[in-house]
Amino acid sequence: MAEMHHVKPHLLQEMAQRIFVAAGTPEDLAAHVARHLVKANLSGHDSHGVIRIPRYVQMIEQGTLAGAARPEVVRDWPATAVVDGKRGFGQVAASLALDVAIDKAGKNGVGAASVRRCNHIGRLGDYSEAAAERGYIAIMTYGSAGPNNGHAAPFGGASRHLGTNPWSIGIPGADEAPVVVDFATTVVAEGKIQVARAKHAPLPPGSIVDKEGQPTTEAEDFYAGGMILPMGGHKGYGLSLVAALLGAGLTAESPATEGRGGGVFVLAINPRAFTEPEVYGATIDNLTGAVKAVAPAPGFSEVQLPGGPEAKSRAERQRSGVPIPGDTWDALVETAQRLQVPVPEGAP
Ligand SMILES: NC(=O)c1ccc[n+]([C@@H]2O[C@H](COP(=O)([O-])OP(=O)(O)OC[C@H]3O[C@@H](n4cnc5c(N)ncnc54)[C@H](O)[C@@H]3O)[C@@H](O)[C@H]2O)c1
Repeated sequence: MAEMHHVKPHLLQEMAQRIFVAAGTPEDLAAHVARHLVKANLSGHDSHGVIRIPRYVQMIEQGTLAGAARPEVVRDWPATAVVDGKRGFGQVAASLALDVAIDKAGKNGVGAASVRRCNHIGRLGDYSEAAAERGYIAIMTYGSAGPNNGHAAPFGGASRHLGTNPWSIGIPGADEAPVVVDFATTVVAEGKIQVARAKHAPLPPGSIVDKEGQPTTEAEDFYAGGMILPMGGHKGYGLSLVAALLGAGLTAESPATEGRGGGVFVLAINPRAFTEPEVYGATIDNLTGAVKAVAPAPGFSEVQLPGGPEAKSRAERQRSGVPIPGDTWDALVETAQRLQVPVPEGAP
């Protein structure tokens, strides 16, 4: 069994923030990204948490992530906006886009924003949860497409062309927790292939194909040029492609010429524009309550709502700490020490 540390979330956040500041990021932006990453860990999505820090710092050092850049609205219509992420932290740019979209939805019923020149935005559910807390529905995606782009093949295709192109949709109710749908449009995330490779374990059938487009369960075939398949065949492929087209088409500054593009798109909806708030909230709670009341199938203990597993994980990990595998912790400490950031007292 690999070594596992349990780190208090506030210590992890403090350490993350200090590392980014030491790498040249202003305090407020560093705090924003640190909070986002630790919330991903708390929510059970460790692949989008503090494990990313060494890579982000490396990107700052290589100049592909402008750690001090502040995103800016560069095109502003009454109900829509375009944000320039300036190749800074994607979490900061995506949060600005969400804030702008919500502000516009407050005035117009709907508001939308896109982000160009955007780096990795982390866990998409974070944004739809934030919108739901403010009483807004949010539909968000981050898509990219292009020759040799990303890890995924289009349905029926035999080369890498699409990102994992996630979608997140958050629907707030009245008294109940919001429904938060948040996932990649591929069968598996690349991180899961890394895990299978390390364990020499087969991947679930139907997850990947080799470089010739032949089905395989061998993780090594992926690293030899294979591809991840879209979830649900042509259906996931459709959602993935639309993510890329929204991201590219609504952020473009000049016509694409190489079949390549991508970006973030977020749509905020103000339920109050459609019906009375009490009617809306009671309706959503009534419907979600009825879904949860469906009798569990054999092998299940309950029907959960999307967003439920993450909320449970947050409650549990706030109490017990964030489990960080030994290797991940060592890489974090190494990054901190290189930047002369002390490991917070009380952390392992
Ligand atoms: N920034 C990026 O470019 C990028 C790319 C890909 C994925 N991601 C993120 O990676 C994370 C993981 O993605 P994934 O595709 O592995 O997601 P996943 O397969 O873990 O699915 C998560 C979703 O399924 C819901 N869910 C899980 N179990 C459930 C159950 N029993 N009943 C009801 N709902 C349930 C969750 O609440 C959540 O909405 C997401 O947060 C996503 O935003 C980000």
